Amino acid sequence: MKERKKMLSGIKPTGLLHIGNYFGMMKQSVELQSEYESTFFIPDYHALTTLHDPKLLKSFVREVILGYLSVGLDPKKVLLFRQSDVPEHTELAWIFNCITTVSYLSRGHAYKDAEAKGEEVSVGTFDYPMLMAADILLYDTDVVPVGQDQKQHVEFARDTAEKFNRLFGETFKLPEERIMKEVATVPGLDGRKMSKSYNNYIPLFASREVIVEKVMAIVTDSKGGRPENVFAIHRLLRDAQVLEPLYDAHVGNYKALKEALVEDLDAFIAPMREKREKLEKEYDVDALLREGGERARAIASTKMRDVRAKVGVR
Ligand code: AMP
Ligand code: TRP
Repeated sequence: MKERKKMLSGIKPTGLLHIGNYFGMMKQSVELQSEYESTFFIPDYHALTTLHDPKLLKSFVREVILGYLSVGLDPKKVLLFRQSDVPEHTELAWIFNCITTVSYLSRGHAYKDAEAKGEEVSVGTFDYPMLMAADILLYDTDVVPVGQDQKQHVEFARDTAEKFNRLFGETFKLPEERIMKEVATVPGLDGRKMSKSYNNYIPLFASREVIVEKVMAIVTDSKGGRPENVFAIHRLLRDAQVLEPLYDAHVGNYKALKEALVEDLDAFIAPMREKREKLEKEYDVDALLREGGERARAIASTKMRDVRAKVGVR
């Protein structure tokens, strides 16, 4: 059998999953899980750049694992693990630190945004792309399914692979991002990118009450016509050909359109929400993490033996 290409991605455990995560990254991952040799992990060391609450961090790791399973990733087909169970990630990130310049990392959008906001930027935030490069390159990844906001990070990983290969000889594959054009950036309740940090999101496993509350909070302008922020979210669930007559028939009647969106969102979320409730009661997340961590570590440690030999440590 022809060897399958490798796919890898991760979601930071820093909050509840939302429909931006789903349409930007999770949906395509589920669709491609059999076509690629697939790995999905939970970058908890990345979360540590902003989250300094051990209980919350652990609960969000569970949230992401249950989320992966509830949207349909099949643990028999894909490798699921937690980053901190595989210390080779941070080890490789250090080696990358030593071949990367400060001026290069200063071009990072995430770093520049944090600086522009006048935040105190931790070294971890600055260095975030090198840990992410290690995550991707350790597993000989070909494709990384992500939303638009992660494009630059995958480019950094590719550049870092090239630089290492140039200095020490062919070692790492050059990964490519895979971005779904139509949903590259899912908008939130206020029209900005849907994001945990803007608190403008619709949780992926929201109850009907929460769906109603969130949809009613979608910002609509009072100019009449089509409520664009409502339409943009609705568009994720139904074709424009179906929506346009509906929106034309209710020009200016935002309430009716929001009610239609509530129905469609609830119908879309309900099966995943039910699956999640069942898994939460029954699934042995710790066993999954233990087993996934061992499998990931076996792959990562083989790769690191080669890397260490090439750079001349150990
Ligand atoms: P994060 O929660 O930041 O770790 O993001 C996890 C994945 O979801 C990444 O691939 C992001 O690019 C993707 N994602 C997050 N928010 C959005 C959004 N509003 N639109 C599209 N993709 C998103
Ligand atoms: N930076 C990614 C995000 O915020 C999370 C992440 C960490 C990741 N390491 C990764 C995604 C490796 C893909 C591959 O969404």
